[in-house]
Amino acid sequence: DLVTLLLVIGGYLLGSVPFGMVMARVMGLGNLRDIGSGNIGATNVLRTGNKKAAFLTLVFDAGKGAVAVLIARSIAGEGAAQLAGLAAFLGHLFPVWLGFKGGKGVATYLGLLLALSFPVGLAACASWLVAAVLLRISSASALASALVTPIWALVLGYGQGIVLIILLGALIFWGHRANISRILAGTEPKIGKKS
Ligand code: G3P
Repeated sequence: DLVTLLLVIGGYLLGSVPFGMVMARVMGLGNLRDIGSGNIGATNVLRTGNKKAAFLTLVFDAGKGAVAVLIARSIAGEGAAQLAGLAAFLGHLFPVWLGFKGGKGVATYLGLLLALSFPVGLAACASWLVAAVLLRISSASALASALVTPIWALVLGYGQGIVLIILLGALIFWGHRANISRILAGTEPKIGKKS
């Protein structure tokens, strides 16, 4: 219906705000496209050496996914919440402001999951963290989290979200094509390594 359509459009627009680029610009860290992987996310902001900017990027990129879900749920229920979360994620990946060349969506994925199902979101974050402690590579941790989170959803009784979670996971793998090549080549940098 029209309300859901508006919530999806709103979710997309919110998701399409590239907080990492804004943060880097505002804090005088330069253009993220010229840094590290060229990505607009917190991992790449951290490559400037500014931990505060990276943390704020993580919080805001996750927050926009969570806010899209929470607003949609309060207005139109669970189905709309899932669609708005997906829309925010797609907004981050394909933002109209950046010629549809956006980010990889990991923070937004974690944020929208926390809002959709707090236990599943926590499990996804914990999976990322455990992988990050073991591997020290952000992209590989995101891939590990995206891989196991559908299983967490089933284990934790959130089967109603499984289709969305698998779709998001597939998009995360697709968005990390270049990272996967680097991981396989052994050239993917460790977290926090300055560029
Ligand atoms: O959040 C994206 C992360 O998984 C990889 O970022 O900059 O290393 O491509 P980056």
